Amino acid sequence: MCGIVGYAGGAQAAPILLHGLKKLEYRGYDSAGIAVRDASSAHIEVIKAKGRLDRLMDMTGGGQAVCGMSGVGHTRWATHGEPSAENAHPHYSREKRVVIVHNGIIENYQEIRDMLERRGYRFHTQTDTEAAALLLDCAYAGEDGNSPQERAVHAIRTTMLRLQGSYALGILFHDQPDVVYAARRDSPLVVGRCTGEAHGHILASDVPAVLSYTRDVVYLDNMEIARITKDTLDIYSIDAERISKPMMHITWDAQAAEKGGYEHFMIKEIHEQPAAVRDTLSPRIVSRNGAPDTDLTETGLTDEEIRRIQRVLFVGCGSAYHAGLVGVGVTEALARIPCSAELASELRYRNAPVQPGTLCVLISQSGETADSLAALRLCKEKGMKTLAIVNVVGSSIAREADAVLYTHAGPEIAVATTKAYSAQLAALYLLAVHLSSRRAAISPAQKQELLEALTALDGKIKQALGEKTRIQRFANTFAACRDVFFIGRGLDHALCMEGSLKLKEISYIHSEAYAAGELKHGAISLIEDGTLVIGAATQPQVFAKMLSGIAEVKSRGACVLALSAQADDRLAEAADFCIGLPGTHPLFAASVGVVPLQLLAYYIACERGLDVDKPRNLAKSVTVE
Ligand code: AGP
Repeated sequence: MCGIVGYAGGAQAAPILLHGLKKLEYRGYDSAGIAVRDASSAHIEVIKAKGRLDRLMDMTGGGQAVCGMSGVGHTRWATHGEPSAENAHPHYSREKRVVIVHNGIIENYQEIRDMLERRGYRFHTQTDTEAAALLLDCAYAGEDGNSPQERAVHAIRTTMLRLQGSYALGILFHDQPDVVYAARRDSPLVVGRCTGEAHGHILASDVPAVLSYTRDVVYLDNMEIARITKDTLDIYSIDAERISKPMMHITWDAQAAEKGGYEHFMIKEIHEQPAAVRDTLSPRIVSRNGAPDTDLTETGLTDEEIRRIQRVLFVGCGSAYHAGLVGVGVTEALARIPCSAELASELRYRNAPVQPGTLCVLISQSGETADSLAALRLCKEKGMKTLAIVNVVGSSIAREADAVLYTHAGPEIAVATTKAYSAQLAALYLLAVHLSSRRAAISPAQKQELLEALTALDGKIKQALGEKTRIQRFANTFAACRDVFFIGRGLDHALCMEGSLKLKEISYIHSEAYAAGELKHGAISLIEDGTLVIGAATQPQVFAKMLSGIAEVKSRGACVLALSAQADDRLAEAADFCIGLPGTHPLFAASVGVVPLQLLAYYIACERGLDVDKPRNLAKSVTVE
């Protein structure tokens, strides 16, 4: 996700802004920029560059070449618009009357852009942020408050009430030197009081950016506005009333701060899954004629093309392939289209016959996986329509596919994917509902039920995180285990594939995912006293079968951990350890079921003292064959 920094004080702003952005690099970015207000010249200088922060450092002499005691800075993780200097922040209105940096996603930016263009505003970038900048300019021009401060706070308030989505904004007004404003909704924002040479105030997306100047910060809450100068920090409610908030003293060290106080990036990202799923779903679930509907215009699929689809291939590697397995189950169940999940590394050499009307869905977090990119090129050569589900804007797969449906998980640092996988599932659910409703394969009532379940999904995932203490205790008991089996049927088999991979890749314990009905055809000979078996039983139509499968392995001495949304005495009796999952639509159960499996793998790896974020032999993106 993006990072923002702002400063107003007694020191030159540019070096402080660049230092703060450097501390936010861990969040991942593709471009960066700063804006500095030189009080003497009434000029706001904006410098931005694609690529690493070093380029910005070179362009500004480490900040020494830019004069001014107040400013804002930004590292961009692209969500709307390619990574480029033009799309980099800060964004501003004409004559730089208003300059802003933004972390988050403005969901209604298109309607705001259309409205402003009708009023004569001209846009120069593809970003949602520019719409926010020009909207604020429009509001500020219309304010006639008694003081510049009042004008600014009221204009920001008006803008916040109009914007939909998430934002942390850093704001400069051309006619207010040495003052920086900020506003927050859902995207985090801290404001600190700087001492020493940097005497003044600093604001940022996250604590690491301020720790060099202060350990005393205020956390802004949703719909609050901040105003900082060298000597003052004022905070306003959305009613433009000044409020007081407690100053918190940060005790973390810098490295812990990058992880938001979590021990590892992986556990931090496991906890970011509700936001990743919400940010992927909410911009694409709209209200039409009073009912929820999908808006997947970005896929470029017309209703006529959707009706002509004869087959869907879901292609990926590793966890992306496992997401594709879920995509098969959900799409076949809803849209009644024949589907298959393909390992990219297999598909590219199989010379599979192509069925006319095949849609190929390439799934990739990085968008750079060599096998998946090669499979994409092959499918295009064979005349298939290609749709990429990718987390990195402007990545190779995103650029080369006919269309892309971005996940909004933000940068994922840990090698073992968690939040990006969950965001992939969310995108696949959306696609399945969209295809099925455009093919009239589901009724409006079914669509409403499905979309309401998706809208509630982030809360269910958050609820599933509540089991972490129990799971940690269980993990500590089994940290020395070997040869773990994950068994499930249908969508639960796909869930088991992902759970097994998580355990293997970070704990180095061998495990296998098995279709529960297949175990008796051979592999059950491996079950012996104490063998750990994870049984996933989230699918009602095969729940009874899972019960007998669990009884089968129990009778051979297995220790069973069962996952189920159904509170059932028979399951509690059959299994040694039960994890109750929050109820959701069975088709979306993998999204809640994967959370305990991620936590189990994580806590076992921690107990084994392993490098959870950087497991041996693995890379975050396998860009070679
Ligand atoms: C998942 O935890 C692994 N890191 C790996 O299986 C990964 O999912 C796979 O390499 C695909 O990567 P991609 O999504 O970036 O294409």
